[in-house]
Amino acid sequence: MADRYDVCATAELAPGARRRIDADGITVIVVNCDGDYLAIEDVCSHDGAPLDDGPVDCAAGTIECPRHGSLFDLRTGRPKTLPAYMPVETFEVEVDGDRIVVLVD
Ligand code: FES
Repeated sequence: MADRYDVCATAELAPGARRRIDADGITVIVVNCDGDYLAIEDVCSHDGAPLDDGPVDCAAGTIECPRHGSLFDLRTGRPKTLPAYMPVETFEVEVDGDRIVVLVD
């Protein structure tokens, strides 16, 4: 069963904004893509760079690794471009009242 981690209030995460949380040692980025909350682990599968500083393209549903430029699908974690070829972990997100909650196994 997944553990639930409070992220913030929905009002605190505007469209296009992101929030990074520590989920018991796993760093997770939660992005508000036009009201769709998407969560991905903050570590690139290529060489371990944090993804948090990378640009997000909500229309494409991607985040770009700032180190070597791989694009990752925010919904599946799969890389869309090289050099990364392994997926990054993604997580389910729920809205509980006015709180954003991420579920981490
Ligand atoms: S560390 Fe992310 S693409 Fe190389």
